[in-house]
Amino acid sequence: MLYANKYYKKYRNNQNPMDLPLIKAHPSFQEIKDVLNGIPSGDHVWDLAGDEEKPVLNWLVGLVATNLEWIENVDEKEELLVIICQMIAERSGRMAAPTKVRTFVMNNSKEIRILEPSLTYDTLGFKTWGSAPLLSAHLPEWETPNPSLRALELGSGTGLLGISAAHQLGWQMVCTDLPEIVENMRHNVTENEDLIHENNGSMECHVLDWLNPPPDDDLPPWLSQPFQRIIASDCVYETHFGKIAIALFLKYLAKDGIAITEYPLRETHLDEIAEFEEGMQQAGFSRETGEEIGQEDFGSRYPITCRWSQWRYNRPQ
Ligand SMILES: C[S@@+](CC[C@H](N)C(=O)[O-])C[C@H]1O[C@@H](n2cnc3c(N)ncnc32)[C@H](O)[C@@H]1O
Repeated sequence: MLYANKYYKKYRNNQNPMDLPLIKAHPSFQEIKDVLNGIPSGDHVWDLAGDEEKPVLNWLVGLVATNLEWIENVDEKEELLVIICQMIAERSGRMAAPTKVRTFVMNNSKEIRILEPSLTYDTLGFKTWGSAPLLSAHLPEWETPNPSLRALELGSGTGLLGISAAHQLGWQMVCTDLPEIVENMRHNVTENEDLIHENNGSMECHVLDWLNPPPDDDLPPWLSQPFQRIIASDCVYETHFGKIAIALFLKYLAKDGIAITEYPLRETHLDEIAEFEEGMQQAGFSRETGEEIGQEDFGSRYPITCRWSQWRYNRPQ
């Protein structure tokens, strides 16, 4: 992000942002720094087209390989190497990307800032996935603000969806995930506290492990009343996750409530999604649904179809 603004200035002025000096010519500290300032980073890391991106990565790697031997000032050399290595890491797949802060702009132009720590396969909730910003944008189109409405979110990850629902609709959000994820979610709640409360919304973060939910006869106070909405973004991606989600909806959703889901239609997970959707219908839910294009950014950025659904019980009691 540090570099994105300058890059955009150049980009808007239709200048070629990728004027890469020859490494063999031993460019100076300032020359290299100026070019680095023009390379997209942070939220904008995937802004270049593929054919522009490749020479940039090659140039960055080429610079590191020389260890910038011709730059004599040690502090200057180190400053450049830190930036260059960070830029290479950002381009080396989501698992290698360093901790970063991403900014999401809501329908009302307000910005939510989300801390995303480095990711491992055990901490998928450290990243905000493609369907969460799509659902954040839909909620105010589908729902009218209602500060008395309580909503549960399953697998909230970084908390973007919950924060945006509390802000845009004034909902009382109960956002949940695994213990290691909830800590970062709480951080993001603190960082966005003013937005969360601006329209009388609130957001609590709790541990709710789908594989080990609290016993029905000993529910914690935050889970003891049925919820009018349950939201889940990108939570159907492992065998049985669909079945588990359905069991949780049946347990915690009010009979006149709505379960709201959205997920990318990844080829690798179509069976799990079909199992979930059939299971929802068998459990007595019917839905309104639609598809739209979202962005997956796992390693590189590419478009992917996402399916949203609003599920209601067929026969409210
Ligand atoms: C693909 S991520 C989606 C995160 C977030 N909803 C989003 O769209 O950005 C799946 C989420 O489900 C959570 N999750 C996975 N297994 C879980 C479990 N057994 N109990 C609770 N949450 C779980 C992960 O920690 C992660 O936050």
